[in-house]
Amino acid sequence: MIVRMWVLEARSAEAEARGLLTPAELSRADELGREQVRRTFVTSRAVQRALGARHLGVAAAEVGISRACAHCGDGDHGKPHFTAAPELDFSVSHTGDLVVIAASTGTRVGLDVELGSRTIEIEEMVRVLASESEQRSLDGLDGDTLRTALFRVWARKEATVKLTGHGLLQVPFSALSVDGPVVRVDGAPDGWPEEPIHLTDLSLGHGSVAALATTVAKPEVDIVTLARVSDLSV
Ligand SMILES: CC(C)(COP(=O)(O)OP(=O)(O)OC[C@H]1O[C@@H](n2cnc3c(N)ncnc32)[C@H](O)[C@@H]1OP(=O)(O)O)[C@@H](O)C(=O)NCCC(=O)NCCS
Repeated sequence: MIVRMWVLEARSAEAEARGLLTPAELSRADELGREQVRRTFVTSRAVQRALGARHLGVAAAEVGISRACAHCGDGDHGKPHFTAAPELDFSVSHTGDLVVIAASTGTRVGLDVELGSRTIEIEEMVRVLASESEQRSLDGLDGDTLRTALFRVWARKEATVKLTGHGLLQVPFSALSVDGPVVRVDGAPDGWPEEPIHLTDLSLGHGSVAALATTVAKPEVDIVTLARVSDLSV
């Protein structure tokens, strides 16, 4: 079973990516104040459209993407999916200038990428993020080893709630334990998958820490770096 991933730098991809968006997405992009936020919005939405377009054989702007939340019905904070291609599960992450998308027809996917250089409050993060078993293993670490281990826990948990679509608000991170190959959840919320959620750590470079969650164990992961969104091929 294969998970395909594409990595882009928004700074160089944005100009061409704009050509793949709908008029509504373009006006939303142009209302975004910060340049970096606009770039990643444009590149992320364009790469989702390029993936759907290649898979469905239609023009990028015609790809139907729903963001309805499966848990509360809200139209804008659910896991995005192609309305005409539910068999192709995908997950997107952006951090700094990086935009990354993972997709598969053989497993559900959740992806998270974090920049290891981000400023974090270590003690606060351990308290909010770590389950009891994780706190015990983090206790013995310090300095850069502790920082990297914390980012790893963070990326694994965020990848998990992006696979399920629950997001951060419905599952306290301390209720998830990701210190093994399969996620353990203390008090699973409604809609939590019956099948185990497997975790794979990824090396994407750019000083990032990244994790992929899948409902199939040991996926083959194929990672391609793209200079242009329209170079994406499936
Ligand atoms: C999902 C979530 C953890 C992502 O956090 P983030 O810091 O934005 O993470 P990233 O930048 O790595 O990823 C952003 C991408 O996550 C995806 N995403 C957004 N909501 C998602 C969800 N519920 N499930 C899975 N993926 C989601 C989108 O593709 C988004 O990129 P896009 O807007 O360009 O399409 C966070 O947005 C969240 O918790 N959302 C749901 C919040 C909520 O209201 N929950 C209540 C449910 S009743």
